[in-house]
Amino acid sequence: EKAEDLSERCPIVTIMGHVDHGKTTLLDAIRSTNVTASEAGGITQHIGAYQVEIKGKKITFLDTPGHAAFTTMRARGAQVTDITILVVAADDGVMPQTVEAINHAKAANVPIIVAVNKMDKESANPDRVKQELTEYGLVAEEWGGDTIFVPVSALKRDGLEDILEMILLVSEVQELKANPDGRPRGTVIEAELDKGRGPVATVLVQNGTLRVGDVVVAGTTYGKVRAMVNDRGRRIKEAGPSMPVEILGLSDVPSAGDLFVVYDDERKASKLVDKR
Ligand code: GTP
Ligand code: NA
Ligand code: MG
Repeated sequence: EKAEDLSERCPIVTIMGHVDHGKTTLLDAIRSTNVTASEAGGITQHIGAYQVEIKGKKITFLDTPGHAAFTTMRARGAQVTDITILVVAADDGVMPQTVEAINHAKAANVPIIVAVNKMDKESANPDRVKQELTEYGLVAEEWGGDTIFVPVSALKRDGLEDILEMILLVSEVQELKANPDGRPRGTVIEAELDKGRGPVATVLVQNGTLRVGDVVVAGTTYGKVRAMVNDRGRRIKEAGPSMPVEILGLSDVPSAGDLFVVYDDERKASKLVDKR
């Protein structure tokens, strides 16, 4: 892509951390707090990713359990995460999967923001979390390092806005860009065979604008996009960079982590898939 064709795209965020430290609660809290009242009917999540808007800026959250996302996707060479939120329960501290998460993020060169969760608990000890994480190279800004720590309570919905603001801060430094007019491509986040609708894939558009009617090759399958559904369950006609969207029309079920690309010719697409 030529530099002059690139425009700003919103950050794509995954949440990682040890079992029961509050990943799902945090994702749910962020989603339900930031879906506007007019969209209240659409709070139910339809796909494994969602976007929120804060101060006119969007953020995409991937719902795939962070570890799975990193391992399957990276094994396939896909990189879908711009920022990782590392959730550490303030009453439990650094645990084995916390360390695993740090290793995944570091290997993928993805910046980490630490959400020190469960701050509502009496036994919460955020300084201990900070201390323990220094051993893994994550030193809090207030301790002279460059890692952002945000105290939160996913349960009480405290600190959610702080997390979102920090995500925007980090993403601004990253200068994330894509070409909305370029050739559409991205990554399959999840896929399944739906009894009524056939193969359904949730994809993340990473470049270009995916449209109904486009011929898509994803992994070893292809098809013409028959319909697209957004994170609010609404039918849409197009999806630009950093947008998660469910697509219908593939001839088979692709795998999570498969890359997809749009072809201008269905025959070419079919030939390509035959060769794979
Ligand atoms: P896994 O997906 O199983 O790894 O867990 P998780 O990290 O998604 O944790 P989950 O959100 O399921 O939360 C685990 C438990 O911690 C639940 O009982 C939550 O209600 C509780 N919990 C989550 N966040 C908070 C919090 O901020 N404060 C308190 N007190 N409890 C919390
Ligand atoms: Na849990
Ligand atoms: Mg969970």
